[in-house]
Amino acid sequence: MRPEWDGFVEPGSKEEELLLRIDFDRLPQHVAIIMDGNGRWARQRNLPRVEGHRAGAKSVQEAVETAARLGISYLTLFAFSKENWKRPRKEVNTLWRLLEEYSKKQDKVMLENNLRLKVIGEREGIPPRTRRELERLEKLTAQGERMTILLALNYSGREEIVHACREIVRQNLLRSDEIDEETITKFLYTAGIPDPDLLIRTSGEMRISNFLLWQMAYTELWITPVLWPDFRKIHFLEAVLEYQRRERRFGGLGSN
Ligand code: IPE
Ligand code: IPE
Ligand code: MG
Repeated sequence: MRPEWDGFVEPGSKEEELLLRIDFDRLPQHVAIIMDGNGRWARQRNLPRVEGHRAGAKSVQEAVETAARLGISYLTLFAFSKENWKRPRKEVNTLWRLLEEYSKKQDKVMLENNLRLKVIGEREGIPPRTRRELERLEKLTAQGERMTILLALNYSGREEIVHACREIVRQNLLRSDEIDEETITKFLYTAGIPDPDLLIRTSGEMRISNFLLWQMAYTELWITPVLWPDFRKIHFLEAVLEYQRRERRFGGLGSN
């Protein structure tokens, strides 16, 4: 087994068996995750919804570690959508506070593992204390080269496209006939980052929920009934293996 997996998967375990089947020459370069089902996880245990969010933090840590050890270059995590403001104020406040606490604790692990953080979404709407903490961590980790974690916060795919169009007009750099797909791509929050190859959604919901609408034109979708707080490395490995069984045709005829 590769040395980077020492101590992370048990010899003889199911995780090890899956890991040995992964083709490291065909890894998804960019994996995006809709981390869903925290509320249902809590309800099943007669706990308040926020306990589900708290428990979800461990899954975030494990997904980050698994992705980095596999050698994935970009991991995007959908943590708060623009539509999530519709929730009760108490839940919303707790979510932002948890995010603030989480980023406070990440310095060491991110620097030691050469990870970079980048926030995508409408920053101006992020509560100031959380935003300050996240921007501090972004600056601190700006040189991280092993893997970039894109944290989608106050994010909406449609808002991102509107924002890109506004920027193009505001900067007034181009004539309308000079605007093409590449131009739009350059003005998205994800400028310079390749489109996701694989989308994982937990909790069984069969929808995109306004996530990365432009970027997911040809992303492979993998949906699991597992609720986010129960999501472990074994599920990540299952998703990657399933991705490797897919044939991506991009509208062409493929190899069969
Ligand atoms: C995902 O879990 C976390 C966020 C959207 C912030 P939910 O809170 O949506 O959990 P469910 O879908 O209600 O179970
Ligand atoms: C999507 O989950 C947003 C995040 C995971 C942050 P939601 O729970 O908000 O999505 P819907 O409402 O079920 O579509
Ligand atoms: Mg949900």
